[in-house]
Amino acid sequence: MNLELDRYGLWEGINEVIVTTVSLDGKPNAAPIGIIRREGKLMVRVYNGSQTYSNIMETRLLAANMVYDPVLFVRSALSDVDDDVFKFIKTDNGEDFPVIADCNAWMLFEAEFNSENTVLVAELHPVTGTIRQQEIRPVNRAFNAVIEAVILATRYKIFRKDKYLLQIESYSNTIYKCGGSTEKNAYDLIFRLL
Ligand SMILES: Cc1cc2nc3c(=O)[nH]c(=O)nc-3n(C[C@H](O)[C@H](O)[C@H](O)COP(=O)(O)O)c2cc1C
Repeated sequence: MNLELDRYGLWEGINEVIVTTVSLDGKPNAAPIGIIRREGKLMVRVYNGSQTYSNIMETRLLAANMVYDPVLFVRSALSDVDDDVFKFIKTDNGEDFPVIADCNAWMLFEAEFNSENTVLVAELHPVTGTIRQQEIRPVNRAFNAVIEAVILATRYKIFRKDKYLLQIESYSNTIYKCGGSTEKNAYDLIFRLL
């Protein structure tokens, strides 16, 4: 299987993807996480306290799902997603692992790490993957602005500082000017989930 990272859209820098994981008792989870590619290596930095952190600690597996749905970024960052967002693939040892059913591509990784801490820094080793669709997507400023806004929203949820709310609000012009209904709905959803 050709697991060349470029073909999967995992380029140098930080790739914002939806990471899917599963708990030992089989419950799937999705959250936006940055997959860092530098000097040929792939890494994640996952903060203690999230479900993603616990699941990776338990199973040492995660899947990167390449997705352009801003609503899914918002929902998976700020709440739980519905079960029908997932489909299950079989790992090499026959276990079910969740990926996003409607993604453009997914890649399953083994996470290598030595110790737990407030932040889990893991190197990622590709296991298997699938490219489902090669979508053509020009840059859309509203999509990028939603991503910036939801990152601030995750900080607001932890620190409850008004400065984050003001920064989130500062993206509204760009989102309403450049966005389609999906980006506008995703932005509105941020305020409903805060
Ligand atoms: C675009 C984006 C990128 C993010 N990247 C990371 C990351 O690299 N590491 C991390 O720990 N949290 C990251 N977060 C925050 C998590 O997605 C957030 O804490 C989420 O609530 C975790 O969900 P969970 O408890 O279901 O795992 C990111 C959020 C967004 C919106």
